[in-house]
Amino acid sequence: MLNANRTIGQEELEARRVTVNVTGTERSSAYDVVIRGGIFDECGSLIAEACPAHRYAVISDSRVAELYGERMVSALAGEKLESVLFEFPAGEWNKTREIWSDLSDGLLRAGFGRDSAVVAVGGGVVGDLAGFVAATYMRGVPVVQIPTTLLAMVDSSVGGKTGVDTSSGKNLVGSFHQPSLVLIDPTALDTLSEPQFIAGLAEAFKHGAILDEAYFVRLAEDLPGICARDVDKLSQLVARSVEIKAEVVGRDEREAGYRRILNFGHTVAHAQETVSGYSWLHGEAVAVGMVLEAALGEAIGLTRPGVADRLRDVLISARLPVKLDAEIVPDHLMKAFELDKKREGGHTRFTLVSDIGTVAGSAEVGWTHEVPEETLRAVLFG
Ligand SMILES: NC(=O)c1ccc[n+]([C@@H]2O[C@H](COP(=O)([O-])OP(=O)(O)OC[C@H]3O[C@@H](n4cnc5c(N)ncnc54)[C@H](O)[C@@H]3O)[C@@H](O)[C@H]2O)c1
Ligand SMILES: [Zn+2]
Repeated sequence: MLNANRTIGQEELEARRVTVNVTGTERSSAYDVVIRGGIFDECGSLIAEACPAHRYAVISDSRVAELYGERMVSALAGEKLESVLFEFPAGEWNKTREIWSDLSDGLLRAGFGRDSAVVAVGGGVVGDLAGFVAATYMRGVPVVQIPTTLLAMVDSSVGGKTGVDTSSGKNLVGSFHQPSLVLIDPTALDTLSEPQFIAGLAEAFKHGAILDEAYFVRLAEDLPGICARDVDKLSQLVARSVEIKAEVVGRDEREAGYRRILNFGHTVAHAQETVSGYSWLHGEAVAVGMVLEAALGEAIGLTRPGVADRLRDVLISARLPVKLDAEIVPDHLMKAFELDKKREGGHTRFTLVSDIGTVAGSAEVGWTHEVPEETLRAVLFG
């Protein structure tokens, strides 16, 4: 654990606030993402204002519940808000319909009605699962997302995707359910393990790589402070990543097109994750995927030469992996692309960048690109 007895500086008391405006197909919504060191302990009043409810179901996994569960219940009680803590065992393998059903039954037994709300406190697994409980409980109750991993802060807590994994694959059953409020306390990262923390950084670099070169450069420069978990540096990072994600999701909530730009690095990452039986952390696979997809882009002339090297150097300095698992059998990876292809309607498509900070594509030609199989084999295994 880092900086267990930290004192919060004045600049850290300033909250950063990003508003997410989603113009959906059926309805529009707007919600705030509030970022500040120490916000955990004062979240009651913000929740009461943005998400008034008769009772709150605080949902966490076992690890996060142990660290922050009681603190969250007390923060709500401080504002005279009644809540009950529900927990499930930590781990991706618990993001299932069975746990969704256990949690939903738990809420029913505890008498939660339509006037309740869910407060999801944890990483992406909690956010997706608790979000899906909220999306379906009595045909939908509001959810407040309180992410506690870097990945969840910069990525999964914003955008409204919720759901569970099935034996046929990840995230195959779910729903779009935008939160009413997202509260981010970067000091919660003090207790996060180093590998989980570093893996989350990959998604922040991705945001810079697709849309904001200056952010990409700043992240690289600020790495020492970020890795020392300096709250102000982390708040800046989270705020910029959330702004980028909000901008993208605001334009395309349901991933009809533009939202796919967030998949840079992810086609290779998903194939590698499938083949390695999910033994890699998602962010680690994304780091490798970004380098290789930049190389693919260079090979088909869409990406400026040198971008793959630039990405590789920066990701190495963040201690992220940049090469495929040496054990990977090329044909297995190609097969994983085939599976992805079926899901995507016939083609393996890649989100590519033309340069650091500029995604390749347009509304006219689309935001993903095909790469011939021989180029794919040559770049990945050549
Ligand atoms: N909804 C989306 O848009 C979206 C986007 C990206 C990823 N995801 C999903 O997110 C999930 C991965 O999320 P994740 O990487 O946060 O994993 P996770 O939720 O499993 O958290 C990783 C581990 O860290 C622990 N943890 C969480 N916060 C902690 C803290 N502050 N201190 C100590 N330990 C802590 C957890 O208990 C868990 O053991 C995947 O299921 C993925 O599909 C969803
Ligand atoms: Zn991702």
